Amino acid sequence: MRTYYVILLFFQLWTANAELISLLTGTAVALSAGAFWGFRDRLRCHLYECCHEPDVGFNHHNIANMLFGQHLVKDVVVNAIKAHWHNENPKKPLVLSFHGYTGSGKNYVAEIIANNTFKQGLRSNFIQHIVATNDFPDKNKIEEYKTELRNRILTTAQKCHRSIFIFDETDKLPEQLLGAIKPFLDYYSKISGVDFRRSIFILLSNKGGGKIAEITLKQYENGYPREQLRLESFERDLMNFSFNEKGGLQMSELISNHLIDHFIPFLPLQREHVKSCVGAYLRKRGRADLVSNVEFVEKVLNSLQYFPESSKAFSSSGCKRVDAKTDLELAKIRPLIHSSQFDDEL
Ligand SMILES: *[C@@H]1O[C@H](CO)[C@@H](O)[C@H](O)[C@H]1NC(C)=O
Ligand SMILES: *[C@@H]1O[C@H](CO)[C@@H](O)[C@H](O)[C@H]1NC(C)=O
Repeated sequence: MRTYYVILLFFQLWTANAELISLLTGTAVALSAGAFWGFRDRLRCHLYECCHEPDVGFNHHNIANMLFGQHLVKDVVVNAIKAHWHNENPKKPLVLSFHGYTGSGKNYVAEIIANNTFKQGLRSNFIQHIVATNDFPDKNKIEEYKTELRNRILTTAQKCHRSIFIFDETDKLPEQLLGAIKPFLDYYSKISGVDFRRSIFILLSNKGGGKIAEITLKQYENGYPREQLRLESFERDLMNFSFNEKGGLQMSELISNHLIDHFIPFLPLQREHVKSCVGAYLRKRGRADLVSNVEFVEKVLNSLQYFPESSKAFSSSGCKRVDAKTDLELAKIRPLIHSSQFDDEL
């Protein structure tokens, strides 16, 4: 009898312990699984890219310092993105339309925005950089392209609600393709199950470049500072331009439906702005010593073209060829020989 009780007691203890042990193990497994998932997530974000800080976040402090001669761009772009970014409940994606001549910095600014939003910049998975002539060259494949473009946009926004879409050469984008992106810019809460309201669309085009140069030149010739030019001085003209241009039907649909939030003019750059670009590039190359070397800087500036013929007020290529021209002049000068140290010792 006694043996029986001992066995029973032992058995009860054993089962109780077994339960306790399984409870403890279960908890441990659950805890470590949680830790594992958390760790896996962090590892994944470390190795790849995640749609949150620190991979994604808008840092506007860098932008203003990197731009020369574009007071409107600085002002409007930074504030528009800031406002959209911090809006808890945006009704539609932010749509910016950049206008200006080649070299006025439209692509450069789009890249700065990408660099200041995604840790991986333009290489981010959450960005689509669409170059009309390169990505959609064949006029006979429009239907195919439409599907492809739609899918590119949808899958990117699916990965991250903070995606950015850059359309280069928007003026060369076939009508039907521009029409295909229209729903994404609109006031819809979801398209094919994807919410676009926190995305940013940036449309770049050369359209209106001539008009912008004309307005800026008039200001220059009248002796007023260009910084006095307001957005309103350009916006009506840019809208009118996009309306009336041949093949501007879809663009005008975007405009008349108020889907474009801001038209942003990129003004042609004056010699002094190009000079600032040369200085910035020299510093980047570790040759800050040459920034105040008038002879060197003038050589670079003189190797660029200017317009109009009469006043040569503006650089024809903005700051675009500055890096190459500076490199060329750098290659021409003999490398500095650091002999001062020897002089001291002798
Ligand atoms: C963007 O970041 C890349 C990589 O860090 C860099 O090479 C490039 O110069 C940056 N672009 C601009 C416009 O700052
Ligand atoms: C719009 O542009 C057309 C030509 O492109 C011009 O005739 C018209 O005067 C412009 N309208 C405004 C309000 O600027």
